[in-house]
Amino acid sequence: MSINSEYFLPESAAAKLDKLVDQIEERPGRLVNPEELRASAASLDVKEVVKQLPEGITEDDFIGILKLAMLTECATDSYSAVFREGATTYNAPWLARFNDTVWTPDEYTHYTPYQYMLQSLGYSEEQLKNEMTDVQGIHYEHCCGKTPVELTTYGIAQEYLTDNWHGMISMLLRDVAPYAAQSATAVKRRETLHTIWYREMTALQVEENPELIPLVAATLKSFQMPGTRLVPHFGNRALEWMAKANVDFPRVASDFVRNFYEVAGSMKRAGYLFVDLAAKRGMKVGPVPLSSINKVLSKIGGPGYGIVGEAVLDKFGVPRPSNVKQTSPINITPRLYESFRSSVKNVIASRIDNTAIIGKV
Ligand SMILES: [Fe+2]
Ligand SMILES: [Fe+2]
Repeated sequence: MSINSEYFLPESAAAKLDKLVDQIEERPGRLVNPEELRASAASLDVKEVVKQLPEGITEDDFIGILKLAMLTECATDSYSAVFREGATTYNAPWLARFNDTVWTPDEYTHYTPYQYMLQSLGYSEEQLKNEMTDVQGIHYEHCCGKTPVELTTYGIAQEYLTDNWHGMISMLLRDVAPYAAQSATAVKRRETLHTIWYREMTALQVEENPELIPLVAATLKSFQMPGTRLVPHFGNRALEWMAKANVDFPRVASDFVRNFYEVAGSMKRAGYLFVDLAAKRGMKVGPVPLSSINKVLSKIGGPGYGIVGEAVLDKFGVPRPSNVKQTSPINITPRLYESFRSSVKNVIASRIDNTAIIGKV
C-alpha cells in the first residue's frame, strides 16, 4: 500500500485519540444479543408483513431490502481488514484497537435478526448461510483512501446510511411484527453509536490538523456503500427502495451536513470542507468551476468560508449555533460584507443541491 504523505498528525494527537478509544471501550453500550434473537426466532416471523407492505413495495422488494441488510452486515471481516490495514500502515494503534475490540465484535451480530426474518419467508438456514459465505468470499475493493482520517470519514457516512437502512426496515415491520421491528431498531442503535464514534475520531484528527479537510472531502467524493460493491444487484436498488419506503431525503441530507459541520469544528472550516467537496464533484457556479471560487475564498480567508458554511447549513435546515460572532474582515465595510454574504447565500441556495453535498446515495 502506498503511503499518502498528506496524512499527518502532531504528536499531541496520539494521546487524545487513545483516550477517546478508552472512553468508547469503557462505555460500549448494549450489544445485540444473537442468543436472545435465536430464542425468540418465532417472533421474528415476518410473513404477515408481506401482506401489508406499503403501496409500491412488492414481496421481492421486501426480500431484497432484508437481504441487502443481511449480506452487507455479514461481510464484517472484509471491512475490518481494510481498517486494520490503514491503522497499521499509518501507525494508528487507537484505530486498530477500536476496530478489533469494539467495532468488529459488535458488527458480527448485526446480520442475525435478518437471517431469522428471511427464514420465516421460506429460505432455509443452509441457503442463507451459503449466500453469506459467497459474499464473504468476494474480494472487497474499498472505495476510498486508507489513511485513518479517510477511514473514519468513510465510517461516518457508511454507518449513518446503514443506521437509516435498519430504521427504514423497522418502520416497515412496526405495525405487524413489533418484536422484529425492535430487533432492527436494536441494530440501528448500534449504527448510531458507530456514527457518533467515527465522527468524534474524525473531528479530533481535523482539530489536530485542519489540513486534513481535503482528505475528508476526497472520501465523501468517492464514497460508495459497500453493498453496491459486494451485492450490486441489491445495493444498486437501495435508492429506489428508500424512495418507495418514503425515506425523508431532506432529513438525510440535513443530518449529513450537520455531521460534517461537527467534524469541521468551526463555520469557517465547514465552509472550506463544503466548497472543496463541491469543487471535487466538478460543480460550477455559472461558467466558473468552483475550484476557482475556492482560490478567491481562500484569499478572503476565514470570513469567506464562514459565509459558505452558514449558507450550506441554512440551505439544509441545520440550526446554526447562536454564539458564533459574525464579524466582517477589517478591510471591507459591514455593508459591503452584508451584500457579499447575501450574494454568496443566493449562489449556494440556487446552485448547491443535495447531490453536491451528499452525492448520489
Ligand atoms: Fe452493522
Ligand atoms: Fe456499524
